Amino acid sequence: MTSTSKTSEHGLSKFHRLLVDQLRHEYTASQQYIALAAWFDDRDLPQLARVFYRQSLEERDHAMMILRFLLDNDVPATIPQVDEIQNNFDAARELVALALRQEQEVTEQFHSLMRAAREENDYTGEQFLQWFLQEQTEEVAKMSTLLSVIDRSSGNLFDVETFVARDMPDEAGGDPSAPETAGPALTV
Ligand SMILES: [Fe+2]
Ligand SMILES: [Fe+2]
Repeated sequence: MTSTSKTSEHGLSKFHRLLVDQLRHEYTASQQYIALAAWFDDRDLPQLARVFYRQSLEERDHAMMILRFLLDNDVPATIPQVDEIQNNFDAARELVALALRQEQEVTEQFHSLMRAAREENDYTGEQFLQWFLQEQTEEVAKMSTLLSVIDRSSGNLFDVETFVARDMPDEAGGDPSAPETAGPALTV
């Protein structure tokens, strides 16, 4: 077994297998964020709802960037079912804690992807991952800040709404370093 082989006996390199899995993780994150947005929307918290509706679109774009990469590199990919979506929550903190946990898990997934690309000397793959690693740093920081704000608000979600309105605007898009999506991008 050579470390430089890009094709395993199963036909795909480990990096490509993990990337096909990542497509499902990003679509799942997108769908999960709609569930969080709808919960806030239903409780008349439009700013928190906006952040998560928008976050859902970003995750969808991440999936479409991965799909573009798979198509361009002739890696066979089917569009996956998503994993189970959590819809039942008792308090706002639970939703944001879930979002933070999800972003931390995705960060770990990108670290595994990077390790696999390195092990297999997949330079194209490594380069593709750079943007996502930076993006994950920002998303973990954003959710971590939001969780602190909720904890400091002592249950006053209207204070949280004020913070979110002022300090968490939608990003403008037009990021020239973002990987290309399959089809139109919604947020980058
Ligand atoms: Fe993502
Ligand atoms: Fe994310």
